[in-house]
Amino acid sequence: MAAKQDKKVILTGDRPTGRLHMGHYVGSLANRVKMQHDYRQFIIIADAQALTDNYDDVNKVRSNIVEVTIDYLSVGIDPKVSTVFVQSLVPELYELTAHFMNLVTVARLERNPTVKDEIKQKNFARDIPAGFLCYPVSQAADITIVRANVVPVGEDQVPMIEQTNEIIRRFHHLYGTELFPEVGALVPKVARLPGLDGGAKMSKSLNNSLYVTASEKEIKEGVHKMFTDPGHLKVSDPGKVEGNVVFAFLDAFDPEPAEVEELKAHYRRGGLGDGALKKRLTGILIDKFADARRIRSELENDLAYVHEVLREGTARTREVAADTLARVRSIMGISYEAFRP
Ligand code: TRP
Repeated sequence: MAAKQDKKVILTGDRPTGRLHMGHYVGSLANRVKMQHDYRQFIIIADAQALTDNYDDVNKVRSNIVEVTIDYLSVGIDPKVSTVFVQSLVPELYELTAHFMNLVTVARLERNPTVKDEIKQKNFARDIPAGFLCYPVSQAADITIVRANVVPVGEDQVPMIEQTNEIIRRFHHLYGTELFPEVGALVPKVARLPGLDGGAKMSKSLNNSLYVTASEKEIKEGVHKMFTDPGHLKVSDPGKVEGNVVFAFLDAFDPEPAEVEELKAHYRRGGLGDGALKKRLTGILIDKFADARRIRSELENDLAYVHEVLREGTARTREVAADTLARVRSIMGISYEAFRP
C-alpha cells in the first residue's frame, strides 16, 4: 500500500449555509466517499466564504457548520481518512489570501464568470462587498494551503480553478520557485439532479430539495410533489421522460438501470402511471438513505463527537498550513529570521 505521503491531495468542500441535499449527494458527496481511500482528502467547511454574502446572518453560517459535518458523517465520510476542517479556524488561510491578493487585478476578478453570475443573482449591482469580489482569491488559498492536486467541482466552479492556476503560475514566476502543484478540476460526469419542481437544481431557497437525511415522511412528500409530465393526464396517455424529475432520480438512484430503461419505454408508449413510478422511487430513496438517517439521529445525540471531528481535522490542517506558509514566506523572502519573535 502506498504511504500516506504518496497519495495525491484532494481539496473539496461546501459553504455551510444549509443541510446537504440529494443533489449534493449525486454531484459530490458520493464521489468523496469513494475517493477518500485513494487520496488524501481535505474537506473545507467554508464558513468565511459563506460570510462574504451572509455577513448579516452569522447565526445561519455558524449553526450549519455542525449540520454539514453531521451530513458528511451520515453519508459515509470517514474522519479517520478524510480531514474535515473549519476554514475560519485556519488563520494561515487569511495570510496566504493576503499574499495572493497582490497577484490578481480587480478587472480579472470582475471577469470571473462564477462571480459575475453570483453578483447578478444576488442583485449586488454596484454595491459589491470587496470580500465577495475577492473570494476567488481566498478559494485559491484554500486549495493551495494543502497543496492540492485535484479539486472536484461542479461546472460552475471551473473558473475558480482556472483562476487558482493563474495565481499559482504568477507566484512561481515572480518568486522563482515552484511550490504548488498545478490543480486539476474534476468535474463529475453524472447528470445534475434537478429540483423537485423540475428547476435546474435543488436549492434550499426554492424549497425544491430533499435532504440526504430527510425523514421517510419527507421523502414520501417530496417524491409525491415531483414534477413529471403535465401532459400525462391519464395512465394510458404517452408520457415524456425528458424533464421528468422522477426519471432523473431513477437514473441517479435506481440500482437496476436496465429496468429503468424498460420503464422509460413503457412510459413513452403510455400505460404507466406516475403513481407506480413514484412508489418505486420512494422505496429506493428510503432504503438508500436509511443509514444516513440513522447516523444523523445518533450524532445529534453525540455532538461532542462531531465537535471532536472538527477540532481534530482543523488541527491536522493547521499543521500542513503552517508548513506551506513557512515555505511561502521563505520563497517570497519574508522569513525575517533575524527579528521574528
Ligand atoms: N465555493 C464552494 C461552494 O460554493 C465552496 C468552497 C470554498 C470550495 N473553498 C473551496 C470548493 C475550495 C472547492 C475548493 O460551495
